[in-house]
Amino acid sequence: MSECRSFADRDQLDQALADHIAARLRSDIEARGSASLAVSGGGTPRLMFRRLAQCELAWSRVWVTLVDERWVDPDSEESNERLVRENLLQERAAQASFVGLKGDSADAGDSVQVIASDLAAIPLPFSMVVLGMGNDGHTASWFPQADNLPALLDPDGQATVAATHPVTAPHQRITLTMPAVLNSAEIALYITGEEKRGILASAAQHHHPVAAVLAQTRTPVITWWAP
Ligand code: 6PG
Repeated sequence: MSECRSFADRDQLDQALADHIAARLRSDIEARGSASLAVSGGGTPRLMFRRLAQCELAWSRVWVTLVDERWVDPDSEESNERLVRENLLQERAAQASFVGLKGDSADAGDSVQVIASDLAAIPLPFSMVVLGMGNDGHTASWFPQADNLPALLDPDGQATVAATHPVTAPHQRITLTMPAVLNSAEIALYITGEEKRGILASAAQHHHPVAAVLAQTRTPVITWWAP
């Protein structure tokens, strides 16, 4: 059973998670001279990103990347890169180095090698990986009906990043794989609302992809939640 930190409201949750991430980054900067953070997109993290961007730490020593990306132009409103650039890579955090996951090819699969070599610049293990969760129990871009879901979830797979067709959601995706996500000092599973809390509670029973993160024992997972 993973630890769950619950808050009275989203404002308190966002501040506490931003402070926790900042503390992790500071401690890795002190211990190894650099820190790295992989974040998810979607609607949940926007205000938390703004809080994190204000935290005081040596951002020039921090690498930021995405857990997953929709295969859309980086200017699109659906781009996770745009979300991160507009909300996290601002203020103090504007000094961080960012590695995006959107390549130039029409098909996401044709850019996987280039993206994997871009990601290789990031110091690992990640200081922290922040995951979200959809109402279908997906996390990262590990969608329940994707053909390559077993490969994405294989903790012993060789690939760090892969393309996938979600089937039940728009756009091709590019996503970190399970072993890449687990290569982190800690994972935050960041969700809000009663509905998602219920979905998470029954994730194992329904074989939702997110259940694989909770079931593994390699990397500590903390669920961060507010109504
Ligand atoms: C994406 C995400 C995805 C997200 C969940 C939750 O690009 O879709 O990275 O995994 O974390 O879908 O999204 P919401 O926060 O919008 O509910």
